[in-house]
Amino acid sequence: MTSATSPAVPAPPTANSALLPSVPLLALDRQYAVLRDEIRVAIERVCDSGRFVLGPDVSELERELAAALDVPHAISCASGSDALLLALMALGVGSGDEVVLPSYTFFATASAVTRLGAVPIFADIDPTTYLIDPADVRRKVSRRCKAIVPVHLFGRTADMDALLPIAEAAGVPIVEDAAQSILSTWHGRCSGRLGDIGCFSFYPTKNLGGAGDGGFLTTTRDDLAATLRLLRVHGMEPRYYHDLVGINSRLDSIQAAVLRVKLPHLDRWTTERQENAARYAALFASYDLAEHITVPTDETRGRHVWNQYVIRVADGQRDALRKHLASCNVGTEIYYPVPLHLQKCFTNLGWSQGDLPATERAAEETLALPIFPELTEAEQRTVVGRIAEFFSATTKPPKAAATALPALAAPHFLRRMVGRADEVRS
Ligand SMILES: Cc1ncc(COP(=O)(O)O)c(C=O)c1O
Repeated sequence: MTSATSPAVPAPPTANSALLPSVPLLALDRQYAVLRDEIRVAIERVCDSGRFVLGPDVSELERELAAALDVPHAISCASGSDALLLALMALGVGSGDEVVLPSYTFFATASAVTRLGAVPIFADIDPTTYLIDPADVRRKVSRRCKAIVPVHLFGRTADMDALLPIAEAAGVPIVEDAAQSILSTWHGRCSGRLGDIGCFSFYPTKNLGGAGDGGFLTTTRDDLAATLRLLRVHGMEPRYYHDLVGINSRLDSIQAAVLRVKLPHLDRWTTERQENAARYAALFASYDLAEHITVPTDETRGRHVWNQYVIRVADGQRDALRKHLASCNVGTEIYYPVPLHLQKCFTNLGWSQGDLPATERAAEETLALPIFPELTEAEQRTVVGRIAEFFSATTKPPKAAATALPALAAPHFLRRMVGRADEVRS
C-alpha cells in the first residue's frame, strides 16, 4: 500500500518550460485502462448469474464499505441524491419541518428537503474552507429544525467539532452529505460515522465512481439501519407486505461488481489526490500569483480527500481565466455558479441576493482545476503555467517555492482493510 507522504517539491518552472497541448478535467479512461480486464470479468459474472438487482455483489460491497469506513452499517441505494432523501425519510422529516444546510452545494442536498415538504434553511459558508459556517448554523436552528445537513464539500470534512455540540444542544440529528468525501476523516474517524447518517455517491466523478449512478448510506445506529434498508425497497418486508411507504432505490448488481473491483484501490487513489494537491500548492507558490489566486488549504484535523481542487480568483477575473484555460485545452469547472438559495425553483422560499455573502462570493470567484489521481506532474505544470501566463506572473526564486503540504496518513483501519484486499487480489 502507498503511504501518505508528501511528493517531492517540484523544481521551479523556467520561462521556457514546455507546456502540454491539453489537460483534461477528469480522465476516467486512464483508470479504466488499468482495471479493464477485472471490470469486464466482474460484469460478466453478474450477467452469468442472472441477479441484476441487489444480490450477493451488493451485500459483499456493503460489507466491504462498512469495513473500509469502520462503520457498523453501510446500506447501498440507487444514488447519492436518494441517499439524502432516504436519510431524511428515516429521520421522519416531513411537511413544515426545517432542515439547516449550506446553499453552496450540489442541488440534491436541498431537493431532498423540499421533496418531503420540508423547508431548507440555508446557512452561509466559511470563506476559507467553503464549508458550512457553524456560527450561522447556530443562529438558524429553530424549534422547527428537524435535522442539520453539513456537506463535506470538495473532499473536506465540515467542522464537526463545532457542529456536533450545536446539534446536541438543539436535540436534532446530523445527516452528513459525504457525497464528495469518501475516506475523508475527522480526528481519525471517517466521514459518514460522525453524525447520525452519512450519505455517499458513486457518481462517476466521485473518488469512488461507478459505471453509472449509485450511492450508499452509513450509520452507527441499528434502528436507523433497519429503517433505511426497508425504505430503499418500498418499505416492503416480507415480500408484498408494506408497513412503511418507501421508495425504489436499489443498487444494481453490475454497479456493485464494478465498485468492488475499484474499492481496494481507493486509499491509494486518495493518497495520489493528496500528493497532487501538495504539488499544486508548491507550483502556485513558485509564481508571483498570490494577489490573483487563493489556493485551498489542507485540513489539519483530518484527512482531506480532494475530490476537487478549487482556487479562488480575485478581481472578477474568474470567467476570463476560465476562458483562457479553455482556449489552451485545460479543463476546469465551476462548482457552483448559482447558489441554491438563488435558484429559480426556490424563489418561493423568499431568499434574495445578499442574504449569504460568503456563498455568493464563492459562486462568483471559484474555479475547480484537474486533480484526479492519474494527473501527471507535467499536466499540473501546464495548468499552473497557463494560469501564470494569463496573469503575466513571473516565477519566484527557488527558495520561496519550497512549500509542500503535509499529507496525512490513512487511519489504521484503512491500512488493515487495504492489506486484506490486496491479499485477496494476489
Ligand atoms: C454534495 C453532493 N450531494 C449530493 C450529490 C448527489 O449524488 P448523486 O449524483 O449520486 O445523486 C452529489 C453528487 O453529485 C454531491 O456532490
